[in-house]
Amino acid sequence: MNEEQSENNTNETIIKLEGLSKRFGYGDAASYALQNFDLEVKRGEFIMIMGPSGCGKTTLLNIIGLLDTPTSGKYLLNDELASRISASRQARLRAKKIGFIFQNFNLIPNLPIIENVALPLVYSGYHKTRRLIKASEALERFNMKDKEYYLPFQLSGGQQQRAAIARAIVSHPEIILADEPTGNLDSRSSTTVMEELRRIHSEGNTIIMVTHNPALTSYATRVINMLDGTIDTDIKTVKDSDLPVPIERKTPRKIFKSRRKSNKKKKGKK
Ligand SMILES: Nc1ncnc2c1ncn2[C@@H]1O[C@H](COP(=O)(O)OP(=O)(O)O)[C@@H](O)[C@H]1O
Ligand SMILES: [Mg+2]
Repeated sequence: MNEEQSENNTNETIIKLEGLSKRFGYGDAASYALQNFDLEVKRGEFIMIMGPSGCGKTTLLNIIGLLDTPTSGKYLLNDELASRISASRQARLRAKKIGFIFQNFNLIPNLPIIENVALPLVYSGYHKTRRLIKASEALERFNMKDKEYYLPFQLSGGQQQRAAIARAIVSHPEIILADEPTGNLDSRSSTTVMEELRRIHSEGNTIIMVTHNPALTSYATRVINMLDGTIDTDIKTVKDSDLPVPIERKTPRKIFKSRRKSNKKKKGKK
Protein backbone atom coordinates (compact mmCIF):
# COMPACT_ATOMS: atom_id res chain seq x y z
CA MET A 1 0.00 0.00 0.00
CA ASN A 2 1.50 3.40 -0.88
CA GLU A 3 1.25 6.48 1.33
CA GLU A 4 -1.68 8.00 -0.49
CA GLN A 5 -3.72 4.82 -0.15
CA SER A 6 -3.01 4.36 3.54
CA GLU A 7 -4.22 7.90 4.17
CA ASN A 8 -7.46 7.19 2.36
CA ASN A 9 -8.81 3.67 2.69
CA THR A 10 -11.59 4.28 0.14
CA ASN A 11 -9.14 3.08 -2.48
CA GLU A 12 -9.55 -0.49 -1.27
CA THR A 13 -11.05 -2.83 -3.88
CA ILE A 14 -13.92 -4.87 -2.47
CA ILE A 15 -15.24 -6.53 -5.63
CA LYS A 16 -13.22 -7.72 -8.57
CA LEU A 17 -14.52 -9.62 -11.58
CA GLU A 18 -12.05 -10.98 -14.10
CA GLY A 19 -13.07 -12.48 -17.43
CA LEU A 20 -16.39 -13.52 -15.96
CA SER A 21 -18.89 -15.35 -18.17
CA LYS A 22 -22.31 -16.77 -17.48
CA ARG A 23 -23.90 -19.18 -19.93
CA PHE A 24 -27.48 -20.34 -19.77
CA GLY A 25 -28.45 -23.53 -21.60
CA TYR A 26 -26.30 -25.97 -23.56
CA GLY A 27 -25.39 -26.74 -27.17
CA ASP A 28 -27.56 -24.99 -29.74
CA ALA A 29 -29.65 -23.45 -26.97
CA ALA A 30 -26.64 -21.90 -25.16
CA SER A 31 -26.61 -18.15 -24.71
CA TYR A 32 -24.35 -15.87 -22.69
CA ALA A 33 -25.85 -13.49 -20.13
CA LEU A 34 -22.34 -12.20 -19.33
CA GLN A 35 -19.32 -12.43 -21.58
CA ASN A 36 -15.73 -11.96 -20.48
CA PHE A 37 -16.85 -9.35 -17.98
CA ASP A 38 -14.25 -7.31 -16.04
CA LEU A 39 -15.13 -4.99 -13.17
CA GLU A 40 -13.29 -3.52 -10.20
CA VAL A 41 -15.34 -1.86 -7.46
CA LYS A 42 -13.80 0.34 -4.75
CA ARG A 43 -15.29 0.71 -1.31
CA GLY A 44 -17.66 3.68 -1.23
CA GLU A 45 -18.63 3.67 -4.90
CA PHE A 46 -22.27 4.23 -5.88
CA ILE A 47 -22.53 2.49 -9.22
CA MET A 48 -25.58 2.72 -11.46
CA ILE A 49 -25.92 0.06 -14.13
CA MET A 50 -28.07 0.74 -17.16
CA GLY A 51 -28.74 -1.13 -20.37
CA PRO A 52 -31.53 -2.74 -22.39
CA SER A 53 -33.63 -5.56 -20.99
CA GLY A 54 -31.82 -8.91 -21.25
CA CYS A 55 -28.28 -7.46 -21.33
CA GLY A 56 -27.26 -9.28 -18.13
CA LYS A 57 -27.79 -6.70 -15.34
CA THR A 58 -29.71 -9.00 -12.97
CA THR A 59 -27.35 -11.90 -13.68
CA LEU A 60 -24.43 -9.62 -12.74
CA LEU A 61 -26.03 -8.55 -9.43
CA ASN A 62 -26.93 -12.17 -8.61
CA ILE A 63 -23.33 -13.27 -9.11
CA ILE A 64 -21.94 -10.35 -7.08
CA GLY A 65 -24.49 -11.15 -4.34
CA LEU A 66 -23.46 -14.83 -4.26
CA LEU A 67 -26.93 -15.91 -5.39
CA ASP A 68 -25.57 -17.36 -8.63
CA THR A 69 -22.22 -18.63 -9.87
CA PRO A 70 -20.37 -17.76 -13.08
CA THR A 71 -19.72 -20.40 -15.76
CA SER A 72 -16.10 -19.23 -16.05
CA GLY A 73 -13.85 -16.43 -14.85
CA LYS A 74 -12.94 -15.13 -11.41
CA TYR A 75 -14.94 -13.32 -8.74
CA LEU A 76 -12.96 -11.89 -5.82
CA LEU A 77 -14.94 -10.58 -2.85
CA ASN A 78 -12.63 -8.75 -0.43
CA ASP A 79 -9.66 -10.44 -2.15
CA GLU A 80 -11.17 -13.88 -1.58
CA LEU A 81 -12.13 -16.17 -4.47
CA ALA A 82 -15.92 -16.59 -4.25
CA SER A 83 -15.70 -20.09 -5.73
CA ARG A 84 -13.61 -21.18 -2.74
CA ILE A 85 -16.11 -19.96 -0.14
CA SER A 86 -18.21 -22.78 1.34
CA ALA A 87 -21.98 -22.70 0.89
CA SER A 88 -22.58 -22.08 4.59
CA ARG A 89 -20.12 -19.15 4.72
CA GLN A 90 -21.65 -17.76 1.53
CA ALA A 91 -25.02 -17.78 3.30
CA ARG A 92 -23.54 -15.95 6.27
CA LEU A 93 -21.80 -13.40 3.99
CA ARG A 94 -25.10 -12.80 2.19
CA ALA A 95 -26.81 -12.09 5.49
CA LYS A 96 -24.07 -9.96 7.07
CA LYS A 97 -22.11 -8.25 4.30
CA ILE A 98 -24.59 -7.87 1.47
CA GLY A 99 -27.98 -6.16 1.46
CA PHE A 100 -30.46 -6.85 -1.34
CA ILE A 101 -33.21 -4.55 -2.60
CA PHE A 102 -35.53 -5.77 -5.36
CA GLN A 103 -37.98 -4.10 -7.72
CA ASN A 104 -40.97 -5.99 -6.26
CA PHE A 105 -39.80 -5.51 -2.63
CA ASN A 106 -39.75 -9.32 -1.93
CA LEU A 107 -41.28 -9.00 1.54
CA ILE A 108 -42.73 -12.20 2.98
CA PRO A 109 -46.50 -11.65 2.77
CA ASN A 110 -47.64 -13.36 5.98
CA LEU A 111 -44.98 -11.83 8.25
CA PRO A 112 -45.41 -8.43 9.93
CA ILE A 113 -43.03 -5.75 8.65
CA ILE A 114 -40.87 -5.87 11.79
CA GLU A 115 -40.27 -9.61 11.36
CA ASN A 116 -39.47 -9.16 7.67
CA VAL A 117 -36.85 -6.57 8.60
CA ALA A 118 -35.40 -8.80 11.34
CA LEU A 119 -34.84 -11.75 8.97
CA PRO A 120 -31.19 -11.05 7.97
CA LEU A 121 -30.30 -10.95 11.69
CA VAL A 122 -30.91 -14.68 12.07
CA TYR A 123 -27.16 -15.11 11.46
CA SER A 124 -26.19 -12.35 13.90
CA GLY A 125 -26.25 -14.52 17.01
CA TYR A 126 -28.76 -12.15 18.67
CA HIS A 127 -31.80 -13.57 20.45
CA LYS A 128 -35.20 -12.90 18.90
CA THR A 129 -36.05 -9.97 21.20
CA ARG A 130 -32.76 -8.28 20.35
CA ARG A 131 -33.38 -8.91 16.63
CA LEU A 132 -36.80 -7.27 16.86
CA ILE A 133 -35.33 -4.27 18.69
CA LYS A 134 -32.72 -3.88 15.91
CA ALA A 135 -35.44 -4.18 13.26
CA SER A 136 -37.52 -1.61 15.04
CA GLU A 137 -34.57 0.80 15.13
CA ALA A 138 -33.98 0.29 11.40
CA LEU A 139 -37.66 1.01 10.68
CA GLU A 140 -37.52 4.13 12.82
CA ARG A 141 -34.68 5.39 10.64
CA PHE A 142 -37.00 5.24 7.66
CA ASN A 143 -39.96 6.78 9.50
CA MET A 144 -41.78 3.45 9.44
CA LYS A 145 -41.95 2.67 13.15
CA ASP A 146 -45.73 3.15 13.30
CA LYS A 147 -46.11 0.45 10.59
CA GLU A 148 -44.10 -2.23 12.40
CA TYR A 149 -46.98 -4.64 12.93
CA TYR A 150 -48.67 -4.11 9.57
CA LEU A 151 -48.53 -6.86 6.98
CA PRO A 152 -46.81 -5.95 3.69
CA PHE A 153 -50.07 -5.75 1.69
CA GLN A 154 -51.36 -3.06 4.08
CA LEU A 155 -48.61 -0.67 2.97
CA SER A 156 -48.16 1.45 -0.16
CA GLY A 157 -45.42 0.56 -2.64
CA GLY A 158 -43.18 3.32 -1.34
CA GLN A 159 -43.64 2.16 2.26
CA GLN A 160 -42.97 -1.47 1.30
CA GLN A 161 -39.75 -0.46 -0.42
CA ARG A 162 -38.65 1.59 2.60
CA ALA A 163 -39.27 -1.50 4.76
CA ALA A 164 -37.27 -3.56 2.24
CA ILE A 165 -34.40 -1.05 2.50
CA ALA A 166 -34.57 -1.26 6.30
CA ARG A 167 -34.29 -5.05 5.93
CA ALA A 168 -31.34 -4.64 3.53
CA ILE A 169 -29.35 -2.47 5.95
CA VAL A 170 -30.39 -3.97 9.33
CA SER A 171 -27.21 -6.04 9.64
CA HIS A 172 -25.04 -3.09 8.50
CA PRO A 173 -23.83 -4.73 5.27
CA GLU A 174 -20.94 -3.08 3.41
CA ILE A 175 -22.44 -3.74 0.01
CA ILE A 176 -25.98 -2.90 -1.11
CA LEU A 177 -27.25 -4.46 -4.34
CA ALA A 178 -30.42 -2.93 -5.72
CA ASP A 179 -32.18 -4.25 -8.83
CA GLU A 180 -34.44 -1.48 -10.18
CA PRO A 181 -35.53 -0.50 -6.66
CA THR A 182 -37.66 2.39 -7.94
CA GLY A 183 -39.10 0.48 -10.91
CA ASN A 184 -42.52 0.03 -9.27
CA LEU A 185 -42.70 3.40 -7.51
CA ASP A 186 -44.28 6.76 -8.34
CA SER A 187 -41.84 9.64 -8.67
CA ARG A 188 -42.34 10.93 -5.12
CA SER A 189 -41.70 7.55 -3.47
CA SER A 190 -38.84 7.06 -5.89
CA THR A 191 -37.20 10.29 -4.68
CA THR A 192 -37.63 9.24 -1.02
CA VAL A 193 -36.02 5.86 -1.74
CA MET A 194 -33.13 7.52 -3.63
CA GLU A 195 -32.54 9.98 -0.78
CA GLU A 196 -32.34 7.02 1.64
CA LEU A 197 -29.82 5.30 -0.64
CA ARG A 198 -27.83 8.53 -0.84
CA ARG A 199 -27.71 8.64 2.96
CA ILE A 200 -26.60 5.00 3.20
CA HIS A 201 -23.91 5.69 0.59
CA SER A 202 -22.67 8.83 2.37
CA GLU A 203 -21.93 6.63 5.39
CA GLY A 204 -19.25 4.86 3.35
CA ASN A 205 -21.26 1.93 2.02
CA THR A 206 -20.89 0.59 -1.49
CA ILE A 207 -24.01 0.53 -3.65
CA ILE A 208 -24.54 -1.16 -6.99
CA MET A 209 -27.92 -0.33 -8.44
CA VAL A 210 -29.63 -1.25 -11.71
CA THR A 211 -31.99 1.34 -13.15
CA HIS A 212 -33.80 2.23 -16.35
CA ASN A 213 -34.17 5.85 -15.31
CA PRO A 214 -31.33 8.07 -16.61
CA ALA A 215 -32.46 10.89 -14.27
CA LEU A 216 -31.33 8.84 -11.26
CA THR A 217 -27.71 8.69 -12.43
CA SER A 218 -27.14 12.04 -10.68
CA TYR A 219 -26.99 10.05 -7.41
CA ALA A 220 -24.18 7.82 -8.69
CA THR A 221 -20.41 8.16 -8.53
CA ARG A 222 -20.06 5.91 -11.57
CA VAL A 223 -22.37 4.98 -14.44
CA ILE A 224 -21.96 1.76 -16.39
CA ASN A 225 -23.89 1.04 -19.57
CA MET A 226 -24.12 -2.63 -20.47
CA LEU A 227 -24.81 -4.19 -23.85
CA ASP A 228 -25.14 -7.91 -24.65
CA GLY A 229 -23.41 -9.13 -21.51
CA THR A 230 -20.47 -6.73 -21.63
CA ILE A 231 -19.63 -3.18 -20.56
CA ASP A 232 -20.39 -0.62 -23.26
CA THR A 233 -19.43 2.56 -21.39
CA ASP A 234 -18.07 3.10 -17.87
CA ILE A 235 -17.82 6.65 -16.52
CA LYS A 236 -16.68 7.70 -13.04
CA THR A 237 -18.16 11.07 -12.04
CA VAL A 238 -16.40 11.13 -8.64
CA LYS A 239 -12.68 10.52 -8.12
CA ASP A 240 -11.78 7.45 -6.01
CA SER A 241 -10.08 9.72 -3.49
CA ASP A 242 -13.34 11.67 -2.99
CA LEU A 243 -15.49 8.61 -2.22
CA PRO A 244 -17.09 8.56 1.26
CA VAL A 245 -15.15 6.88 4.04
CA PRO A 246 -16.89 4.29 6.25
CA ILE A 247 -17.81 5.49 9.72
CA GLU A 248 -16.43 3.33 12.52
CA ARG A 249 -19.31 1.71 14.37
CA LYS A 250 -18.88 0.63 17.93
CA THR A 251 -20.79 -2.55 18.68
CA PRO A 252 -23.04 -2.34 21.76
CA ARG A 253 -20.79 -4.86 23.51
CA LYS A 254 -17.70 -2.69 22.99
CA ILE A 255 -19.47 0.41 24.27
CA PHE A 256 -20.60 -1.56 27.33
CA LYS A 257 -17.07 -2.83 28.00
CA SER A 258 -15.43 0.57 27.68
CA ARG A 259 -18.04 2.06 30.00
CA ARG A 260 -17.40 -0.61 32.59
CA LYS A 261 -13.66 0.03 32.37
CA SER A 262 -14.06 3.76 32.92
CA ASN A 263 -16.41 3.08 35.85
CA LYS A 264 -13.76 0.86 37.42
CA LYS A 265 -11.16 3.58 36.94
CA LYS A 266 -13.42 6.10 38.68
CA LYS A 267 -14.00 3.71 41.58
CA GLY A 268 -10.27 3.08 41.87
CA LYS A 269 -9.62 6.80 42.17
CA LYS A 270 -12.03 7.17 45.09
N1 LIG B 1 -32.33 -18.69 -15.22
C1 LIG B 1 -32.15 -18.41 -16.52
N2 LIG B 1 -32.26 -19.38 -17.47
C2 LIG B 1 -32.05 -19.12 -18.77
N3 LIG B 1 -31.74 -17.90 -19.26
C3 LIG B 1 -31.64 -16.89 -18.37
C4 LIG B 1 -31.84 -17.09 -16.96
N4 LIG B 1 -31.65 -15.90 -16.33
C5 LIG B 1 -31.37 -15.01 -17.29
N5 LIG B 1 -31.35 -15.59 -18.52
C6 LIG B 1 -31.04 -14.94 -19.81
O1 LIG B 1 -29.85 -14.19 -19.65
C7 LIG B 1 -29.93 -12.94 -20.29
C8 LIG B 1 -29.72 -11.83 -19.30
O2 LIG B 1 -30.78 -11.78 -18.37
P1 LIG B 1 -30.86 -10.75 -17.16
O3 LIG B 1 -29.58 -10.81 -16.43
O4 LIG B 1 -32.10 -11.02 -16.41
O5 LIG B 1 -30.94 -9.37 -17.96
P2 LIG B 1 -31.45 -7.92 -17.48
O6 LIG B 1 -31.54 -7.94 -15.97
O7 LIG B 1 -30.42 -6.98 -18.00
O8 LIG B 1 -32.76 -7.70 -18.11
C9 LIG B 1 -31.31 -12.91 -20.95
O9 LIG B 1 -31.16 -13.29 -22.29
C10 LIG B 1 -32.10 -13.92 -20.17
O10 LIG B 1 -33.09 -14.49 -20.96
MG1 LIG C 1 -33.15 -7.53 -14.71
